[in-house]
Amino acid sequence: MSSVPDTDISGVGLGLRSNHYHYIESRKPAVRWFEILVDNYLNKGGSALSHLQQIRQDYAFTFHGVGLSLGSTDPLNKGYMRALKDLIKRFQPQRVSDHLAWVSVNQRYVHDLIPLPYTNDALTHFCQRVSEVQDFLGIQLLIENPSSYLNYKLSDISETDFLKAVVDKTGCALLLDVNNIYVSASNNNFSAERYLDEIPIAVVKEIHLAGYEQQDKFLLDTHGQRVHVPVWELYSKALARFGPVPTLIEWDTDIPEFDVLAEEAAIAQRLMDHTCRVPKQPLSTRRDPR
Ligand SMILES: [Fe+2]
Repeated sequence: MSSVPDTDISGVGLGLRSNHYHYIESRKPAVRWFEILVDNYLNKGGSALSHLQQIRQDYAFTFHGVGLSLGSTDPLNKGYMRALKDLIKRFQPQRVSDHLAWVSVNQRYVHDLIPLPYTNDALTHFCQRVSEVQDFLGIQLLIENPSSYLNYKLSDISETDFLKAVVDKTGCALLLDVNNIYVSASNNNFSAERYLDEIPIAVVKEIHLAGYEQQDKFLLDTHGQRVHVPVWELYSKALARFGPVPTLIEWDTDIPEFDVLAEEAAIAQRLMDHTCRVPKQPLSTRRDPR
């Protein structure tokens, strides 16, 4: 890649979705950066990668994955890791992240990110795998906190202490999903504000925001709606604590017109600018010509 933006990301980005390829390529909207769901592009050729190639000419990328299955007892998937390394080399993302979760058992993959029991054994296992992946890829991984609907009786470490220990032992950083914190806090009856306070400031390198759905007494992390008011409020508190951390609007189901995503990003950017008093910076991309 020769003429790609290589500055570090800042401000609010959006997830790149295939139904917006043509809009982005033709209109070049004023988005600071795009997050790529890498699982959609591994071992792919043809049009998907050529769209990435074209969009990368104008925008910085971050990579986000669900397939490393870092919490699983399955062997690490070396084919997945090799394909991810190739994609990193080709597109030079500013962040690469996956989850504090597992998605496979006996090499069979499920479509959910399932939390781990937070025990010393699980911590040792998870850290070994994070370190192995970081060494193989030659990058610092960001680990995202999961949304959860129940707790394991086995767990004897808090999620925040578990995350802090993973950072200490592996040198990884954190992707803090503020919506996930709110969803988990509501479902499991803990304080989302205290959770934020327990996370060290320097280790948070990215934030996610998304919409949840209420079903009976549970909140479900569905990524199919606008960000809800309590999550915006929690995001303001996160900004006050962690500063202007690059933030992504996640929207994965019932994907709306691009303008809806842009409106959500604009709200997040205003909150960031207001809370962190960020001086106005020119975007590295061209403005939407509308
Ligand atoms: Fe997320």
